[in-house]
Amino acid sequence: MAANWKMYKTAQETTAFFDRFNSLVESDPKPEIVVFPPALCIPAAVQATRGTRTEIGGQNLYWCKEGAFTGEVSGHMLRAAGANWVLVGHSERRQYFAETDADVLKKTHAALEAGLRPIVCVGERVEERKANKTEQVLVRQFAAGLAGLTEEEFAKTAVAYEPVWAIGTGLTATPQVASEAHELIRGEAAKRFGREAAKQLCILYGGSVKPDNIEGLMKETEIDGALVGGASLDPESFAKIVRAA
Ligand code: 13P
Repeated sequence: MAANWKMYKTAQETTAFFDRFNSLVESDPKPEIVVFPPALCIPAAVQATRGTRTEIGGQNLYWCKEGAFTGEVSGHMLRAAGANWVLVGHSERRQYFAETDADVLKKTHAALEAGLRPIVCVGERVEERKANKTEQVLVRQFAAGLAGLTEEEFAKTAVAYEPVWAIGTGLTATPQVASEAHELIRGEAAKRFGREAAKQLCILYGGSVKPDNIEGLMKETEIDGALVGGASLDPESFAKIVRAA
């Protein structure tokens, strides 16, 4: 279960979140939990989750280790701050920051080189779904985002299926629609990395996941977890989602 906080919360608010959240999920050994706070809040999040099973990740990275790239943060820096994971190719990065498939691939490789586990985000826009291009888009984004990975690197990588029309809109994909997309992605993974590796691949669903729809989604065997935006900002709400999973 992953929480993408996007551009919400200060370091103080991060600490306050975990003060409450840690006690709500403490006794459950499963599922794995990863929280992606804004980069500035990573040190506070790492400190607040020390000794718990919650891991911390970055929402983005730049592909060089260091250099004259004003405003950027590298995978190496995220790792040094205590992050273990990083989101790559989120649709908001593609949409508002002009990230291309080629950028996503460089970031996936940079993440792995830095010792971070990438979650590569894929998903179609509403006009692509209406034009029956969902399959084409997912196949392209999957291939482009994970090209050239070794089997070992692929085993460290997860995928998030986030249909753009479901993000922040309250329009969750039905469990069936999500499941079909996951099956397609797993099929692509099998073609490139073999059936066993595809079976092990963790595919998260993201897009308007809430405490009241998580159970239906998690009943689908194709859906391994969720990447939660808005509903992860409140500790009670995210803990409910974790527990339902
Ligand atoms: P919402 O859960 O707010 O729709 O956001 C989903 C998302 O983009 C997670 O990365």
